[in-house]
Amino acid sequence: MPIYKVSSSREKYRKLAIQGDLSRLSGRHKPLETKRRALLIKDNLSRLNVKKNGLVLDMGCGDGTLLRELSSRFGICVGAVPSDEEKNLLARAFCDWENILFLRGESEEPLPELPGRTADLIVCNSVLHGNGFDASSVAKSLGAFSVMQEKGQVLYLGEIPVRNEFEGRDYGLSFRRYLVWCLKTGRLWRLTQNLFMYLRSSITENVYIIQGTSGFHSVPDDFIPLVESFGYQYVSAHDSASNALLTTGNTKKENIDRVDYIFIKS
Ligand SMILES: C[S@@+](CC[C@H](N)C(=O)[O-])C[C@H]1O[C@@H](n2cnc3c(N)ncnc32)[C@H](O)[C@@H]1O
Repeated sequence: MPIYKVSSSREKYRKLAIQGDLSRLSGRHKPLETKRRALLIKDNLSRLNVKKNGLVLDMGCGDGTLLRELSSRFGICVGAVPSDEEKNLLARAFCDWENILFLRGESEEPLPELPGRTADLIVCNSVLHGNGFDASSVAKSLGAFSVMQEKGQVLYLGEIPVRNEFEGRDYGLSFRRYLVWCLKTGRLWRLTQNLFMYLRSSITENVYIIQGTSGFHSVPDDFIPLVESFGYQYVSAHDSASNALLTTGNTKKENIDRVDYIFIKS
């Protein structure tokens, strides 16, 4: 059976890394979208006072696109991923980049091998909402980030969903029920794509992955005080899609799906 069922984002990316396709570690189908996100984050960071030639930690660094973009600005760029399979794939792809290194680590625990110092910048983009994360593991992650930073250092938390993106997805880990859900909700293009991926997996080495339907989400009015309770000071929040700055009055706007947050350790 080519279907592989996973109930955590960690397990999904481990499986993708085994297949050896680096670009899939971003979780996006379009590499240009990953590049666009990296440039947007880089631009937002350029307005902040982050130590020059310092250390950046990209927690859940995906295919390493952001680290590549930041490597000329930082002395040491550390990408952390939760499996050896991802770490090894990334290390091979970046073997010529002298100041980029990869460690195995999970957001919920401080990295023991952070090269002897704190992180001038921690970026954690499109990770904390993933399948398997909940309020408790997000709080644990914020506690771990706090331990790895000191006063004045910057924390960038990207793509935190405002609403439950899995709402109404009652198919669990069943492929058949997923197809029915696509039909019922009019997602015909997605249905075709997934049938194609499924059929391709039956004649190639690729596995077809179905992931569980739970994950973390939070509105800015709850998320900002939560992060502040871990010793951070709020700087700004941006609509992840347009990068528009969120102000107190529009944090509940219906048309914002995900938010990028910037904090400074106080
Ligand atoms: C959707 S991808 C995002 C990749 C990248 N940050 C980006 O924005 O392009 C999710 C990443 O989070 C990582 N991840 C999943 N669970 C994690 C955990 N518990 N701790 C740290 N990283 C995790 C995955 O390995 C993967 O690299």
